[in-house]
Amino acid sequence: MHKPRGVLLSGPPGTGKTLIARTISEILNVKPKIVRGPEVFSRFLGESEEKIRSLFADARYDQEKFGENSKLHIIIFDELDSICKRRTQTDASTRDNVQDSITAQLLTELDGLEPINNILIIGTTNMVETIDPALLRPGRIDLVIDVPLPDDDARLHIFDICTKQLLQNGLMESDVDIQTIIQTTNGLTGSHIEKIVRLAIINAMRRDILSRGRLNITEEESEQLRVCNEDFKEALQKVLFAERTEL
Ligand SMILES: Nc1ncnc2c1ncn2[C@@H]1O[C@H](COP(=O)(O)OP(=O)(O)OP(=O)(O)O)[C@@H](O)[C@H]1O
Ligand SMILES: [Mg+2]
Repeated sequence: MHKPRGVLLSGPPGTGKTLIARTISEILNVKPKIVRGPEVFSRFLGESEEKIRSLFADARYDQEKFGENSKLHIIIFDELDSICKRRTQTDASTRDNVQDSITAQLLTELDGLEPINNILIIGTTNMVETIDPALLRPGRIDLVIDVPLPDDDARLHIFDICTKQLLQNGLMESDVDIQTIIQTTNGLTGSHIEKIVRLAIINAMRRDILSRGRLNITEEESEQLRVCNEDFKEALQKVLFAERTEL
């Protein structure tokens, strides 16, 4: 079976692609090199080929030195679509030269004369159709994994992860209507759920401070904080409202 040299995590914003890329690296016990799409142009300007080459240099060095026994290297290209845009006939004249040279260099590295077997490329994108298809051909970043919007079960699971510490510390009131939160967040992402929990905690803290009438709260008092259904309801409304006005 052919080993994938690269995988592309593709899905809507906030579904956990960057988190998954980092988690894969953690599970494989590798400290990844991370290239964030939007930062590339300021960081790589004028020396983009060299920068891309240097990303692969450690892996090449290890492979030459240790061969089969080389340790695994991971490069994460976060928001790959903004690094390697598809070339279209219409925008050929206005294409960004930096983008072109980064894409070309990346292809060179992936195809290299000496194939590199000790590297895993993880790309993330929410616009797979805008990525230069040359990058996604067999032997390159040829495994595309869909990261879809979470269904009810997945949202419940994410909610559980986000509230685990609250529960463990006994800070979550039993009146929290988890079912309603899960149903109302249909169509939203893990990132929204995380935000709802964060806002609910802030609401509870605000309520606590207001009821005490002072800002300096002792450690014992902070342990009495309770995040209740009302805090979640308010947080949910805020996130839903922000979502609707953004559309
Ligand atoms: N499946 C998930 N499980 C647990 N937490 C999640 C999940 N999806 C999203 N989150 C939460 O949302 C945050 C944002 O997710 P992340 O940045 O990975 O999304 P993304 O898919 O990379 O979004 P974008 O396309 O906008 O870059 C995570 O740090 C995490 O707190
Ligand atoms: Mg991301």
